[in-house]
Amino acid sequence: MQLHLSSWQEIDGYLAKSKAILVPIGSTEQHGPNGLLGTDALCPEIIARRAGDEGGILVAPTFNVGQSQHHMGFSGTITLRPSTMIAAMTDWAQSLARHGFERIYWLNGHGGNIATINAAFAEIYHGVTFAGTTSNRPSMHCLLRNWWELSGINDLCRQLFPVGEGSHATPSEVSVTYFAYPEAIKRVAMTPKIAPTGPIFDADDYRRRFPDGRIGSDPSQATPEAGEKIVAAAVKAVIAEFKQFETG
Ligand code: NI
Repeated sequence: MQLHLSSWQEIDGYLAKSKAILVPIGSTEQHGPNGLLGTDALCPEIIARRAGDEGGILVAPTFNVGQSQHHMGFSGTITLRPSTMIAAMTDWAQSLARHGFERIYWLNGHGGNIATINAAFAEIYHGVTFAGTTSNRPSMHCLLRNWWELSGINDLCRQLFPVGEGSHATPSEVSVTYFAYPEAIKRVAMTPKIAPTGPIFDADDYRRRFPDGRIGSDPSQATPEAGEKIVAAAVKAVIAEFKQFETG
């Protein structure tokens, strides 16, 4: 069930059964020579929407621009500053809370978002605590889950891509997007085959260290078939975790 394809009466009906919602969250940033700019938003969105259909979970619109300052050396990347993202996430959470939602499961697709998402949770809880109501008020719980850390996913990705998984523009994440959007598949030879690794600082430094955008990966291995396997396993794990979180 997707919020943006529902009517307000349908959301009222959902709230009578559940106070929990899933928000896919990611980024819009370069993903190497064959990865889509939307990869980090699309991966959680693809997994979330299927989990929504199979598990009866309400899925919010995707928060699809995040912390991508270090990717600004590559065309197409869009970034928020941390303070903007914290403010926007807080507004999303307070809007949902106003309607009665008390559990927000944020399914994240971008490692660079993690610190800011946790800072936003602190801001959200601060708002709840100082809202001027009594301690009997229902509380707000936020959960951050990076999709690649869902139960069983790490092992599956290592098994599918024992060499060249890397940490940015990985064959696993590119496979997930190729499974959902086969029309966007790009066949590009990688030079070098496996990208360099190293630390991340500002955008100019990033482009010097990682000239084609990849870090440690060989995403030319990506296939829709691998993506289908990853999505199937991730959907199962999300449904199981969401159901526990919903009532916890
Ligand atoms: Ni990514």
